[in-house]
Amino acid sequence: MRKIEIIVALLFAAVALHAQDAKMNAYINNLMSKMTLDEKLGQLNLPAAGDITTGQANSSDIGKKIKDGKVGGLFNIKSVAKIRAVQEVAVEESRLKIPLLFGMDVIHGYETVFPIPLGLSCSWDMEEIEKSARIAATEASADGICWTFSPMVDISRDPRWGRIAEGSGEDPYLGSQIAKAMVRGYQSDLSKNNSIMACVKHYALYGAAEGGRDYNTVDMSKVRMFNEYLPPYKAAVDAGVGSLMASFNEVDGVPATGNKFLLTEVLRKRWGFKGFVVSDYTGINEMIAHGLGDLQTVSAVALRAGVDMDMVGEGFLTTLKESLKEGKVTLQEINNACRLVLEAKYKLGLFANPYKYCDEKRAATEIFTDGNRRTARAIAADCFVLLKNQNNVLPLKKSGTIALIGPLADNRANMTGTWSVAANFNKSISVMQGLKDVAGDNVKILYARGSNLSADSLFEERATVFGKTLNRDHRPAEEMLKEALNAANQADVIVAALGESAEMTGESSSRSEIGIPDVQEDLLKALLKTGKPVVLVLFTGRPLAIKWENDHVPAILNVWFGGTEAGHAIADVLFGRVNPSGKLTATWPQNVGQVPLYYNQKNTGRPLPEGEWFQKFRSNYLDVSNDPVYPFGYGLTYTHFTYSDLKLSSTFLKGNQKLTATVTLKNDGDRDGKEVVQLYIRDLVGSITRPVKELKGFQKVYLKAGESKDVFFTITTDDLKFYNSDLKYDWEQGEFVIMVGSNSRDVKEVKVSWIK
Ligand code: BGC
Repeated sequence: MRKIEIIVALLFAAVALHAQDAKMNAYINNLMSKMTLDEKLGQLNLPAAGDITTGQANSSDIGKKIKDGKVGGLFNIKSVAKIRAVQEVAVEESRLKIPLLFGMDVIHGYETVFPIPLGLSCSWDMEEIEKSARIAATEASADGICWTFSPMVDISRDPRWGRIAEGSGEDPYLGSQIAKAMVRGYQSDLSKNNSIMACVKHYALYGAAEGGRDYNTVDMSKVRMFNEYLPPYKAAVDAGVGSLMASFNEVDGVPATGNKFLLTEVLRKRWGFKGFVVSDYTGINEMIAHGLGDLQTVSAVALRAGVDMDMVGEGFLTTLKESLKEGKVTLQEINNACRLVLEAKYKLGLFANPYKYCDEKRAATEIFTDGNRRTARAIAADCFVLLKNQNNVLPLKKSGTIALIGPLADNRANMTGTWSVAANFNKSISVMQGLKDVAGDNVKILYARGSNLSADSLFEERATVFGKTLNRDHRPAEEMLKEALNAANQADVIVAALGESAEMTGESSSRSEIGIPDVQEDLLKALLKTGKPVVLVLFTGRPLAIKWENDHVPAILNVWFGGTEAGHAIADVLFGRVNPSGKLTATWPQNVGQVPLYYNQKNTGRPLPEGEWFQKFRSNYLDVSNDPVYPFGYGLTYTHFTYSDLKLSSTFLKGNQKLTATVTLKNDGDRDGKEVVQLYIRDLVGSITRPVKELKGFQKVYLKAGESKDVFFTITTDDLKFYNSDLKYDWEQGEFVIMVGSNSRDVKEVKVSWIK
């Protein structure tokens, strides 16, 4: 297209958009002119139905409230039939016949479950991530849902925090790419009935909870907030996300749910967000416990700060009328919130057809299909991270005897991980099932459970909620161990399926110790003593501190929680049907004491010289080096990639010139494989201190065995920009180090000067 044609096309698009907006505004103005104050407040109310439990309290008399126009949307209700019945009440029995929004936590899949988000991020494959969201949207929408509480984009550098499982790790750049991919996948084309509205959460900074304890205080400088934690939320907004959820935590002394700086100054004014804001589950009421006042006060605070919809707590419904009378909120504020909720319904096409998402035929044919399961299997295999593979223990041969051992080896319910509320756990594939299906008849599998999840039955109970049982074995630990060793001694190789249960991460699942739990660790040590090769198939929702395991276990495959098809995908990788290509998106520390440990740290005034692990009067510990066990971006494959010849198109640039960095990547192993080539930049001198490196690009490259390829990155001054002390976003001239490599530690580097 010529330039003039592009301009004309853009103009036409802008005019069309304007006409659409005008039509929507006219529709909503007309509707709102008929609404009473109570009906307006009703639109701001989001109760939970009881099909699924995701929080503490439920609303009563929902049916009556809907009839009375006191409900704007409903969540935690599952099935087309039920949703249709409720929608009928809204559009046939309420005065103004306003349809409801139906929400759900469709976080990493609907009935077809994909790996937990932290796992998904390790694919570094935006197409696959988008596809997973697309499938989730298709299935959820076929079952009546039009709104998902996803993507969760909270950056976290603290593996103690259980909800690190729900995000994309520690990096703002990667997190932003993933946020966009997820929004694209869910919302694709909202005029169609297979697209749903996304809700980016939890705004903001929820992943920086002190001590990694869920819901805990967050306090951080504005410079850090803008440069390191806010980018993924902004990326979702830029991608057109329809809604946003405020987080539970406080920021700068004000809970996010009542934080005008976050919800109005930044979100609306700086970023131009046009969608609606929903509180988190009773997030408004929780401001009472935060210490901001009674329900009436905190509800007014939330509305004025910029919350439009109240999830579960009903503070808006029950107190805003009084606050309006007392002049504590304005009608304008109530109208704004109501309008934004109605606009969401309009954009979803619910006024045109309230039953748009209620198609029984779709529900019968588009959910948990063979095709979706095949995709889930392929994506899961791309998310696993091969952490160690000494002497090429992996891939396994399709012959001989395997001892399959561990409390997670023959379990279905835990494969889907946290937040898989729509899934039928009995339909997911266990490791045992996966190995049997993939190994073929030449492999004999001897199974023994070996241990429970933990010796502490109360801890195990807390870690196996929501039906994700591990069916605790009540035999004495010695007896279980003996049985396992018996199997191990007869085998050629031991596959130990150990680690965390699904509910050891996720909401309200923080841990102060982040190793493999007690009895499982004993089991692993005993298995290693047999002298047989041991493959640790590691289940976890967080980076674990596994220095000992890394030092002693020959092969470790980290499989997160792989979803519906976890067992098949694990077997695909173990037997080499799929060459692993996942790379970590959060740093794995040596111990809890190092936390927070992240790659894009600051240099400090007393950095440790490279290659050293301790020097007096340097920034280090007496008892542990500063190194992680596995750095950000790390992951092995069954082949081998070599990087050479990092070249720049120029080493001196001016103004808005572009820089090209080229590296030659060679697959010099004997298998085809995929490599995530990573670009990092360091800004050597700045008006504020800058990180030692920052991810600024990546490419997932497929190379056949023996093949090599030049990989190019285009770098512009946009990649050099950051928020300075005045929160101005710009780049500063000076020297930069350009680094390319296979993880954040192992890079090749070249310097450039770039002046204004
Ligand atoms: C969680 C949210 C979730 C909501 C609704 C809350 O407890 O923090 O992530 O979307 O419940 O289930």
